[in-house]
Amino acid sequence: MKGRTELITGLDVDTREEALAAVDNAAGCEWFKIGAQLFTRCGPAIVEAVQAKKKNVFLDLKYHDIPNTVAKASKAAADLGARLVTLHASGGKAMIAAARDAVEGTEARLLAVTVLTSLTDDMLRDEIGIPETAAEAVPRLANIAVEAGAHGIVCSPREITMVRDAVGPAPLIVTPGIRPKWAAKDDQARIMTPREAAEAGADMIVVVRPILKHENPPEAVRLIQEELQG
Ligand code: C5P
Repeated sequence: MKGRTELITGLDVDTREEALAAVDNAAGCEWFKIGAQLFTRCGPAIVEAVQAKKKNVFLDLKYHDIPNTVAKASKAAADLGARLVTLHASGGKAMIAAARDAVEGTEARLLAVTVLTSLTDDMLRDEIGIPETAAEAVPRLANIAVEAGAHGIVCSPREITMVRDAVGPAPLIVTPGIRPKWAAKDDQARIMTPREAAEAGADMIVVVRPILKHENPPEAVRLIQEELQG
């Protein structure tokens, strides 16, 4: 997977029909992210249906529970064929290590989410009780996640450099919050272009609405991949 920056698109839709049409429309893309919205609607069958089209699935359910439960869920995701699986770094080292043991020998790779980008420093302090800023918590959590066995980290493009410094060269860095220059920003605020994210060291980028909503999705995929290749 390392080498060039891979494009992942997301199936942020409600039905199997829309999801499979989106896969066909973005056929130049090899990776598809299935999150809580589509998975809760369609269940494991949608993962199998996307894989039946010879595509790789990134199952983004952000597990956060006791170690035994997260280990069993991670193994279930791996058995389903998911190649990338997310969990929360804030679940702690024992949780991450249990998940890593559970997926050993499978093709699944675990990605840890550090601090959700929707959380502000004020929310972290006043609601969650974390006195650090996000800029302090993100590299710390990335580091404990990788030490415990996570194969990679999901982070915002603005965090790529601090995460890379914290975890070293080997772990995967996967980042959403990407907008090509020709695309609308939607609700994303601190964005980077695909090229900027690749240059900052992202191994994989997640781009959804600029592809899903493009009048010609195959062209959107082609343009992004061209940009990634430099
Ligand atoms: O449409 P867009 O490219 O903004 O979609 C980005 C995807 O990445 C969505 O599935 C969104 O839920 C997810 N994501 C994000 N920001 C994060 C974490 C996940 O946009 N910090």
